[in-house]
Parts: sequence; C-alpha cells; structure tokens
Amino acid sequence: MPADTSKFYKAKRLAKRPGFLLETPAPCLKTFPRMKKTSPVSRSGRFSSGPGEDVAKFTESISFDRRMWRHDLLGSIAHATMLGSIGVLTKAEAKRITKALEAIGDDIEAGQFDWDESLEDVHMNIEAELTKREPAGAKLHTGRSRNDQVALDMRMWLRDEMVELEEEIRDLQQALVALGQANENVVIPGYTHLQRAQPVYFAHHLLAYVEMFERDHERLLDAFSRVNVCPLGSGALAGSTLPLDRKEVASFLGLEDRQGNPVISQNSMDAVSDRDFAVEFCFVASLAGVHLSRLAEDIILWSSSEFDFIRISDEYTTGSSLMPQKKNPDIAEIARGKSGRLVGNLMSLLTLLKGLPMTYNRDLQEDKERLFDSVDTIRATVRLTAAMLRNTHVNAPACEAAASDPALLATDLADYLVGQKVAFREAHHVVGEVVALAENQGKPLNELTLKELQGVSKRFKTDALEVFDLKTALAKRVITGSPGGKEVKKQLKSWAKRLA
Ligand code: ARG
Repeated sequence: MPADTSKFYKAKRLAKRPGFLLETPAPCLKTFPRMKKTSPVSRSGRFSSGPGEDVAKFTESISFDRRMWRHDLLGSIAHATMLGSIGVLTKAEAKRITKALEAIGDDIEAGQFDWDESLEDVHMNIEAELTKREPAGAKLHTGRSRNDQVALDMRMWLRDEMVELEEEIRDLQQALVALGQANENVVIPGYTHLQRAQPVYFAHHLLAYVEMFERDHERLLDAFSRVNVCPLGSGALAGSTLPLDRKEVASFLGLEDRQGNPVISQNSMDAVSDRDFAVEFCFVASLAGVHLSRLAEDIILWSSSEFDFIRISDEYTTGSSLMPQKKNPDIAEIARGKSGRLVGNLMSLLTLLKGLPMTYNRDLQEDKERLFDSVDTIRATVRLTAAMLRNTHVNAPACEAAASDPALLATDLADYLVGQKVAFREAHHVVGEVVALAENQGKPLNELTLKELQGVSKRFKTDALEVFDLKTALAKRVITGSPGGKEVKKQLKSWAKRLA
C-alpha cells in the first residue's frame, strides 16, 4: 500500500493564487544561514571541507530548485518504500523514513524549514534533514544518485504544471468561444497585409485562435507522454547492482501510460542526461506564446481609436502617468512581450544541451530556471488573456460601419461574373476597372448604376448590384471553414460543446 502522499498535492492549490507569479520566498529563505564549513551530508571522505563562499554561491541551486520540494519528497518516499519491498530497508525503517519525510513536508509547507545554501540543492537539504531526524535516512540514497533524482523531480514537477496549463488553455478557448457567441451577428472586415480584405463574422476571427490553441493543447498532451516517465534506477549513469524494482517506483508515482502501466526509462545514460522533455515543453510554450502574442496584437489594434472594435474593461487596462485621456491595453502588450521571453528560454535550453558530452554534466543545473520561467510565463499569460477576454465588450456599431465598406465585396462581384461564365482572370480585370471607375467618380462601389457597370462589361445583369448586400454575401459562404453565418454558428456550437 503506497504511503498517503496526497498532502503534498494539497499544497498545489497554492499555485492557483492569482498573484503566484510574484510569490516571494518563504521568510526562512530570505536570509540564508551563514556558510557552514562542512556539510552534514557527506559526499564520502573525499572532501575535507566545504567549498568557499563564492564557489558555493556560484554552484548552488537551492535558491531555485527548492521549488520542487514536494516532488523531491514524493520521489524519496517512493524510493524508500521500494527499498523496503526489496529488503534493502526493513519495513519499519521504510515506514520511519516516510513519516520523517512527511513531517519535513509539513514543516516546509508551514515555512518552518531552514534551507541551507551550503547543502547546494533541494535533494541534499532534504536528505540532510531526514538523516538528522531519522538515522535510517542514511540508507535512503542506496541505488540512487542526484542525477536520476533531479531528472525525476523535474519530470514530476513539470507534469503537475502541465495538468494545470491544460485546464487553463481550455479556459482560454472557452473565453474566446463565449465572446464569439455573445457577438454572433457582428461582422468585421477580415484583413490581409493589414488592409481591409473581405467581410467575416467577428466570431470567425476568434475561432481562428481557438483552432491555434487546440493545436497547442494537442502538443501539450503529446509532450506529456514523454514527460511522464520514471528515470529513477538509472543511478549516476550506470544503474545499480541492487535489484531495484523500478516499476514499483513508477507505479507509486503515477508515472504510467494511459492503460495504467508503469513507464520507466530504458537506458540509464540517456535517462540522466536527457532534457528533451524540458525542451519540448519550452517549445510548446513558445508556440502557444506566439499565438497569444498574435491575439494580443489584434486586441491592441481593435482597442485603438482607429479601429474602435472593442472596449476592454477598466480593470484590465491601465492609464498613462502623463496623458489623462489614455486607457492602455497593457495586459495585451505584456502578453505580446512575454512571447519573446518564452522563445528565449527555448533557445537557452537548446544551446545548453548542444555539444554536451554524455552523461550528466553540471551545466544541466541551468535548465531549471529557464523551465520554471517558461511554465510561469505561459500559465500567467494564458490566464490573464482569458480574464481580459471575459472583460472585453464589442462595439457593434463601429464594427458594422467598418464592415459595410462595399469594397470588401469586390471579390464577390468577380465571383458573380464567374457565375455568368466569365473566366476568373478576366472577371478580376473587369472588377478592377469597376473599382477604378468608382474611385474616379468619388463614390462607393455599391452606388454605381447598372448602366455604369454595363459600360465596363455587358455580362453584368440587373441583379449584379445585389452582390453588395452584406448579409446575403455572408450567407453564400457555406463551405466548411468559411466565415458564413451558418458555418460560424455551427462551429461555435460544436466548440462550445467540445469545451464544456
Ligand atoms: N542541483 C543539481 C542539478 O540541478 C542536481 C544534480 C547534481 N548532481 C551532481 N552530480 N552534482 O542538476
């Protein structure tokens, strides 16, 4: 029976605090205890004293990897339990170690744990404390290295974050669909080259982003299967001479496939040096970040006086310190900016791994801050963007005014001629002449007379000017993926159902 590990997951809810990105270190972490000369966790008798203070500062990772403490404890509980099963620990020792680790978890959660910089990282801090509390703790590291331990911690930490991000992406898609549904009949110009091109339903534009985030969601789930793998049992690089039950550990930790079978790494050298899972996540986050930045740019444009298609609620905008009239779309701008940071983290990780010899090298310690930052950045950006969308109102009259430009239907006029058996290239040319004519006369396309149209081509019949009825024009767009009224309503409905 696995130990009750739910208490370490309970604290996961803390991460849902809105301001968690700004989370300050627990009070006990603000002031590191003074350097101790020797560390209580002995790395064998080889080192007579600890490193000098500047060396310690340069090499420590406790200032950031303590973030994985829950997962480090869980991994240790799983390892101890397995050592108990195979008889390396007595059952009583395994139980006492588990109890002590759980108590350490409670203390950390309560902010009553003194992290010691001289102990380098989260693994050594926890092991040292365990050994102080429980002498059998000295046996815990049997068949284990920090190299497979850190790989495990990162995988489990990332797994939890991915589960949260998955929900957040779903919520963002829901926010887009809801905004589309609330403005089902609003039409705007669709743009190419940022020039008005053809009319589309506003919802169709939003659904384009729902599709992008759907692919991000798929990529996230796909990457998950490569994150959720147990490297423990790989030791420093060459496994162990002990009969470790790797599958028991994997099952204990839920490192399983969809069928519930434990998933364990198949090569000890690969397992301790592999950071593909982190790179993959950073890529997924980067691409989602790029999608978010494009959405942000549309929001910024739409909220400008020039477009005036949307109004973002006051709580989601900021004022200018100098210009009293300003209401700036800062959340969207920061979201746009954050994508650069996500791409930067991805590049950092790729560069970090490039040319590294097998197997574990301490360079790999540099992976964590980049990964943590990508997780924090993408999650906050997704959440804030969803919240902003839920507090955005569409200025329907402004959209209507922009969409009523008859030039948006010039292509429809060419399609009309195609219906009259004119080759499209010729139709395109004819309509070009019609546009020039309207321009010369200083009037919009739809105000030309039938006579004027027929002056350009005899193929224009009495019904030619009906092309400029916007609603009819949109109703004609019936093929799958097009921005016609029926199709967009169908898509909105199917997304709403799928995301419910
Ligand atoms: N703090 C280290 C890291 O983040 C843990 C592994 C250290 N292993 C070692 N052999 N020094 O990568």
